[in-house]
Amino acid sequence: MRKKREMLMSRAARRKASAQSRKAARRTKRSAAAAPAPARDVLLELEALRKAGRSLELEQRSSALMRRYPDSAVLLNMQAIAQAMQGREDEALATFERAQASDPACFDAWFNHANILKARGRYDRAFESYRRAAAILPGSDLPLINMGLMCFEAGRFDEAAALFSRAAEINPNNPDTHNNLGTILVRLRNYDEAILSFARALLLNPDYPDALKRFAKARRECRSHPDNGTIAGLIIRCLESRETDNGNVDNVSKLIIHAGLQDVLAKEDLALEDVSALDGMTRGLLSPYMSNAVVSAHVIEQFLCRARAVLLDAREAPAMRDPDEKLETLLAAFAHQGFLNEYIWYVPAEEEAKVDALEADVRRVLSGGGAPAAPDIFLLAAYRPLFAIAPLRAWGLSAWAAASEPLKSVLRKQIVNPAEEVRLRDTIPSLTAIGEGVSQCVQAQYEENPYPRWEFLSVEQPQDCTWWVMQDVSPHQPVLAPPPENPQILVAGCGTGKHPITTALCHRNSDVLAVDLSRASLAYGKRMARELDVTNVTFAHADILKLGDLGRSFDIIESSGVLHHMEDPDAGLKALIRLLKPGGYMKLGLYSEAARADIVAIREMVAGEAVDLTARGLGAFRRELFLRKSDIHARLGKLRDFYSTSELRDLLFHVQEHRYTMSGLANLIFGNGLEFLGFLFSMDEPKLRYQEMFPEDPDCLNLENWQKLEEAEPLTFVGMYQFWCRKPY
Ligand SMILES: C[S@@+](CC[C@H](N)C(=O)[O-])C[C@H]1O[C@@H](n2cnc3c(N)ncnc32)[C@H](O)[C@@H]1O
Repeated sequence: MRKKREMLMSRAARRKASAQSRKAARRTKRSAAAAPAPARDVLLELEALRKAGRSLELEQRSSALMRRYPDSAVLLNMQAIAQAMQGREDEALATFERAQASDPACFDAWFNHANILKARGRYDRAFESYRRAAAILPGSDLPLINMGLMCFEAGRFDEAAALFSRAAEINPNNPDTHNNLGTILVRLRNYDEAILSFARALLLNPDYPDALKRFAKARRECRSHPDNGTIAGLIIRCLESRETDNGNVDNVSKLIIHAGLQDVLAKEDLALEDVSALDGMTRGLLSPYMSNAVVSAHVIEQFLCRARAVLLDAREAPAMRDPDEKLETLLAAFAHQGFLNEYIWYVPAEEEAKVDALEADVRRVLSGGGAPAAPDIFLLAAYRPLFAIAPLRAWGLSAWAAASEPLKSVLRKQIVNPAEEVRLRDTIPSLTAIGEGVSQCVQAQYEENPYPRWEFLSVEQPQDCTWWVMQDVSPHQPVLAPPPENPQILVAGCGTGKHPITTALCHRNSDVLAVDLSRASLAYGKRMARELDVTNVTFAHADILKLGDLGRSFDIIESSGVLHHMEDPDAGLKALIRLLKPGGYMKLGLYSEAARADIVAIREMVAGEAVDLTARGLGAFRRELFLRKSDIHARLGKLRDFYSTSELRDLLFHVQEHRYTMSGLANLIFGNGLEFLGFLFSMDEPKLRYQEMFPEDPDCLNLENWQKLEEAEPLTFVGMYQFWCRKPY
């Protein structure tokens, strides 16, 4: 929740009041007029002292004035403010109460009184004082906002929503109110209304990353499909923002795009004019989606493969030689998409021959000292990694900075960044050797296909590390030791760095050590950390199983999606536990047997097949799979991981994979003497379901209950079993 600066607002509250409240203010004035009060310029002088934080002078001056105006509520209020500013809150409360007694219609005396009570956790009394303040100035949104925040914190979401709705009616121009209302509506699972609230917040303040992130998250849960230009515009912003997890708007993007493409999806003689018009048909979403997310819907992918072929065939057409802005954006989007899905889209042999010809033309231009035409580079990048074409790589490194957008963006992502990663690989320190056998096989896989390739990061406000544990395991509220000043955190199996960079940003005062087997992954992470200016993370090459001699211990260890790729996950866990301080916290993510049932079935089905694990081989494999048209294949096609090379390899062809049942998980946790603190999910839904099914365990801790829930809803842990546990002292 976004909290306003709410303490001691004094006259600011009155300024915000509407016409209705001005009436009440006049009433206040009249009643104040009953007792003699200081002149306006004197009050302004006191207000200036308050604003400047000069509390001692404020107190002296108001005390002196009170000798002349002993019953002035305004002066008592000022005196109380001064006392509160000096930390003498008990005195301040008593002085506010004197002001209230002197003038029961003094808004500030009730409002400021309530603020202090609220800050001290005395919610009932605070609520009553806010209620009195609200009755004095019914046109002020401030008491309602603060009451709403208290109700939210107390879990009284219906009341909180009603209070924020009233606050929004009184002052519709406060983006924070709409953002807070949206947050409460999410808790009430009213996602449709929540989205509208976030949209209002963003219309009032377009530069409001928190509202955009919340909009995206609510959008993920929302089943309805808006056909509305404003919402589509916000979805585009979510796709393009580097601070918003664009996975949250993946489904809605696909829905809008799919609906927009209806007229051309089945069109046989697709022409260049049709393809040029695709963005217009999809409310402008197609290009931003293709440029920023892996296209993860089979029907859309198949259509876009056809559209790409049309562009390739029309390569020499005048419209392609000199594309207008719309077509250029779309061409660049195809280039970005090729890179993002790591060239997994199937290419028939005759089309491959045309791409060969295109590449040959580009090479010819380069060998003659010329610069290839931008549309040719876009088209080539839609089919093949530019970085792998040596002369193009050399040219791109020198030409990218002067190129105009969108060519610059394509060259930067596909040539400049990978070149930087190659350079960074050798700068990463090595902490251990890599064990023979499974560790080296897993390393080889991730050297070829670093995972995941990411560009966007959704980070919440930095907080201390125990706050995060609490947040994740809520509603369980374990008693936690005070957080260390400079937490030492290990992210074990950090992949391409998204995880440790998020951790480092969430705990600004921490030192994060991020280790992995794959230098290619570590280099990706190091480049991203530099780009994002994150300085409290160090990347190092190491095998977790050999980290015992590190000579360091950690307050927190996080290892997500890693242990199940070891030959003996229990040995991996034991190695991590040794590195964890007594009382330290560990966050783990492990595959669930139930959630992966479909994948296991497919893995078994393809186990005997000799699948070529290159992008081209996997592209052909996917095509085969879809041609079989069975139910299980259709279900597999719904998984996002099916749509890029590294993810598909990770999903179906990992060299080593263990999965856990709930009882296996219990053995792993309790058998290693760890205390289970709770599961974490990206949304509230599974825990709400648990509480409905097992009201006797509001903390959501009983693994046998979770097993029953998982049996009823096998996809509950589709995002893995993710949980926190604690090492005993
Ligand atoms: C599926 S990826 C997960 C990456 C990251 N944790 C994330 O959530 O994005 C698994 C990672 O674990 C790493 N890994 C597996 N076994 C490891 C080991 N013994 N030591 C260090 N890293 C390991 C792999 O190299 C790979 O990058």
